[in-house]
Amino acid sequence: MGMVKVLLNGKEVEALEGETILNLARRYGIEIPTLCYYEGFANGSCRICIVEVNGRLIPSCITKVSEGMKIETESTRVTEARKTLLKLLLKNHTHRSKEEQMRCRICEYAVKYGLEPAPIIPSVKVDDTHPAILFNPSACVMCRKCVIACGIDQNNDVIAVIGRGSGTRVGFDLDTPPMGMSSCVSCGACVDACPTGGVNGKGLGTR
Ligand code: SF4
Ligand code: FES
Repeated sequence: MGMVKVLLNGKEVEALEGETILNLARRYGIEIPTLCYYEGFANGSCRICIVEVNGRLIPSCITKVSEGMKIETESTRVTEARKTLLKLLLKNHTHRSKEEQMRCRICEYAVKYGLEPAPIIPSVKVDDTHPAILFNPSACVMCRKCVIACGIDQNNDVIAVIGRGSGTRVGFDLDTPPMGMSSCVSCGACVDACPTGGVNGKGLGTR
């Protein structure tokens, strides 16, 4: 595999040809926030992983390195853009318990970027019809990682994206039954993949 030279936060480093900026940063111990990133699968929908490359803001998880790139992972523009994105995500984001909130990466990043985490509303409407897994739609940010984990990793295809536009949401078996009556085999891959606590092990202890 060839190498390319890039500037990473002002330091010249060697990158592997074909690797993503996120991968490069991680190899050099630089943390970049991610929500929808799923290893080995180009998702690229949340944009929280943006970095500045030669003056442009681009998502690091789906952008490959190229010779001469000047990459800034924490510039003021990057930080401000991430904050704006988090504020938008937090607008429709609620947790049912402190435990669920503590597992949520959006809330973790919110605190890191000086914002309030999402509110805790115990009465929020959830789907608790499944014996082992609970679905809280108000904690879901439609990152689609559970869909990838269920369909592509496990070949189960129980979870799907349903609807269009602002009505888009996650559903089970094309939305006919609630989760407990679906063909879910309780593999738990969605729980492992979910960055927010949208799908959670019941009792929060199974991950
Ligand atoms: S339930 Fe979790 S993994 Fe699935 S789309 Fe929502 S936030 Fe993403
Ligand atoms: S983590 Fe890169 S676009 Fe979501």
